[in-house]
Amino acid sequence: MKRIELRDLFKNFEAFDGKEITVCGWLRSVRDYKNIAFLTLNDGAFKSVQVVVEQNKIKNYDDIVKQNVGASFEAKGKVIITPNAQQPFEINASEVKVLGTSDPSYPLQKKGHTVEFLRSIPTIRPRGNLFNAVFRIRSVAAFAIHKFFNERNFVYVHTPIITSSDCEGAGEMFQVTTLNMENPPKANGKIDYSQDFFGKKVSLTVSGQLHEETLTHAFGKTYTFGPTFRAENSNTSRHAAEFWMMEPEICFCGLEELMDNEEEMVKYCIKYVMEECKDELEFLNKFVDKDLIKRLENIVNSKFVRLDYTDAIDILKKSGKKFEYKVEWGVDLQSEHERYLTEEVYKKPVFLKNYPKEIKAFYMRQNDDGKTVAAVDMLVPGIGELIGGSQREERLEKLLARIKELGLKEEDYSWYLDTRRYGTNVHSGYGLGFERFVMYLTGISNIRDVELFPRTVGSIFG
Ligand code: 4AD
Ligand code: MG
Repeated sequence: MKRIELRDLFKNFEAFDGKEITVCGWLRSVRDYKNIAFLTLNDGAFKSVQVVVEQNKIKNYDDIVKQNVGASFEAKGKVIITPNAQQPFEINASEVKVLGTSDPSYPLQKKGHTVEFLRSIPTIRPRGNLFNAVFRIRSVAAFAIHKFFNERNFVYVHTPIITSSDCEGAGEMFQVTTLNMENPPKANGKIDYSQDFFGKKVSLTVSGQLHEETLTHAFGKTYTFGPTFRAENSNTSRHAAEFWMMEPEICFCGLEELMDNEEEMVKYCIKYVMEECKDELEFLNKFVDKDLIKRLENIVNSKFVRLDYTDAIDILKKSGKKFEYKVEWGVDLQSEHERYLTEEVYKKPVFLKNYPKEIKAFYMRQNDDGKTVAAVDMLVPGIGELIGGSQREERLEKLLARIKELGLKEEDYSWYLDTRRYGTNVHSGYGLGFERFVMYLTGISNIRDVELFPRTVGSIFG
């Protein structure tokens, strides 16, 4: 008999009333009352099923009840609707097989572990309720992103991971080499990268944007969604060395339209997750963040604020708040400033735009004031920067001048400039930090708890 998955069963259990079915899953708990026992089995659905095992019906009863939490089972039996019980139905077993035993050292014997303890058991933590909820939502949110862009004619592109250009120009790249680093070949006293695998120095990408823009200039609307890497020495709850970024790029599109797309996309994905992951969100609302559902509902129904960097600096200066980092026109905002704006002043997402050019990347559109660029970050309560984006500098001479001004090597970016040489146009794009989005959707406050095996400065497992 084929097994029924619990997600499908819970959606439609009335239809199985009195029918015999087979389920598989891992043991969450066993309660043995000598002649009757209750097994709780979980197969990855958020809800677990109760299997009733009667000693006079099941010949391997003694073997079943002595199994440890974590063991895997196959259970066959009749579905009994139980309107007065905690769970809406149970399975009265006619046959139960132990598929795989579990060692008594299984670390999730009971509920209520701290996230710090769970972090120390990365191979097992996905089997508990917290990670079940978080990783289901991560998956559903990724699907919602694809659905959103697919419905709007965007082409999904896979940009390279290994690259010879630093998109953000921040020098935070992980180098990739096959040279013998104990004794590298040298020329003129320097490492001779002409002998390296690609004949030059290369790294893991910090963003797919530059490569993506070449395809955007063929299809008009594209997005890339994949892993990105940053060797930032930031040991915070919002930075990982390896994270996923989702980057849409749109031709014939200025800054205002870009913000419209960002706002629509965020609301669309939140709504989709709220529809598909009700149980998971209720659980997170109860155990992780009591305001989560209310907050998500508010966001869907609110209009995001659009604020100039210069005005934000005024607000921060006049706030009378004591910030750790001083605010002056020209500084890069710290998380404390971003959070003050979104959490205290506006209490909703804020688009902050037109930043000083000195603190932003070379490719951003230079504004007429000569001081700022058409950059826009989306800041959200609880997280700070969720999205970074901009209108792109479409004027070849201006872009070349900026590359020179910043001391970047023109030959490293020459290929990218083909987009400006042939049919240049006003275009814009952004990058969503996907882990930060999952944090936002789940109320989880540390990026280490929304990645399966987080890679952060000084820490790697597996
Ligand atoms: O603002 P960033 O650096 O923008 C870019 O890389 C652009 N090339 C994107 C584009 O326009 N196509 O990064 C985008 C987002 C940030 O807003 C943040 O959410 C996330 O990526 N991010 C990180 N997330 C986790 N850990 C890190 N170390 C991150 N660095 C950036
Ligand atoms: Mg940024």
